[in-house]
Amino acid sequence: MTGALLHPTEELPTPRAAPDDLQQHIDRIVPRIDDHIDRLCPDSPADACAAWLPADGPTGSERTNTTGLGHRLRHALSEPVRHLTDAAGRRWRPVMIWEAVDLLGGDSERCGPLIAAIEMLHTGSLIVDDVQDASPLRRGRPAVHTVFGMPTALNAGTAAYFLWDRAVELSFPGDAALGGELRALLLAALRAGHAGQALDLQGHHEEMDRAVADGDRDTVLDVLRVTHRLKSGAPTAAGLETAAVVTGAEPPLRAALAAFGSAVGTAYQIADDVADLRGVTHAGQPTKRPLEDLRNGKVTMPLAHAVGRVPRPFLTRLWQQIKEGSLQGPALTEARAQLEACGAERACREEAENIVHDAWARLAPLLPRAGRHLLHELALLIVRGKQIA
Ligand code: IPE
Ligand code: MG
Ligand code: MG
Ligand code: MG
Repeated sequence: MTGALLHPTEELPTPRAAPDDLQQHIDRIVPRIDDHIDRLCPDSPADACAAWLPADGPTGSERTNTTGLGHRLRHALSEPVRHLTDAAGRRWRPVMIWEAVDLLGGDSERCGPLIAAIEMLHTGSLIVDDVQDASPLRRGRPAVHTVFGMPTALNAGTAAYFLWDRAVELSFPGDAALGGELRALLLAALRAGHAGQALDLQGHHEEMDRAVADGDRDTVLDVLRVTHRLKSGAPTAAGLETAAVVTGAEPPLRAALAAFGSAVGTAYQIADDVADLRGVTHAGQPTKRPLEDLRNGKVTMPLAHAVGRVPRPFLTRLWQQIKEGSLQGPALTEARAQLEACGAERACREEAENIVHDAWARLAPLLPRAGRHLLHELALLIVRGKQIA
């Protein structure tokens, strides 16, 4: 953390809505992104082969039953993915990339398939994550694995990552050099993301054990920060780096854009950990169960920030209950109240703000003045706004 912390008496800003000009941009861009999502992951059996099979498709002798194959691929791959993309989602990742491409003078419509593919990467990772976290709800709907079964969910979620391959062909057909660069970028993000998810699934129990024992939260916070940066920062960084690559940005701008994407993704994940305390609702409907992380025995940012902020006997008991999976009823409610009251929640929100602030301070001078505020406001909205992952 390099940014100055907010003064303790200073109010953290929590805008409920986007500024008007940003909202107009979002309203204009989202339908165009949705069109590209439809193109990349079409609803019809007729287009399913083109979407999911590599360029050469079925061989000549296999062509007799292409229609049947289209139906099957639609059912096994398109439907599970569309189950989530058709539900409420804020599309903030693709909106941010679209804005960045526009800002840098690129052709965002031409890059539409790539931009949509970043949303598909995210969607696929949510489908897999919900299996791993045994989450019953996503975006107010039953999670994909509860509807289509675990094997199909895992396969469709993973297949969604590779829509990037098709998107590269759709956006820049025949450009081998650019295609190679874009494919390398995605592979690096997938490596980082899976390493982050590995650390997350393993948990940070030893670090938390030590933190609870000696009252020092720094080590557990560090391991959480790297996990959050890998699992959530890396895919967002890849999205903004894509904007740099397709617009031919110079290396310093490319690096600053990637760093800003990483910051926004990481800060979003911190906010997501905070949102777990209350759950998430959209239009009055629950979209994520409250306290799922603590019930699942996870060490979250608010829990780690509570070390040294709540009395040690309380934390020792709470951590024991979290590890045993026995945290429930009034103890669960009290845990939430303590994490909010002790300043841990506030520390998380300050940390998220500062990560974005620092990355923006490095990026802003490299961007064209006109319109750059939209990118910043969008980032703040993402980090401060209500959470629909
Ligand atoms: C995983 O983090 C997010 C991904 C990188 C897939 P979480 O497990 O905390 O995400 P939610 O809370 O289920 O959305
Ligand atoms: Mg999860
Ligand atoms: Mg998870
Ligand atoms: Mg979460």
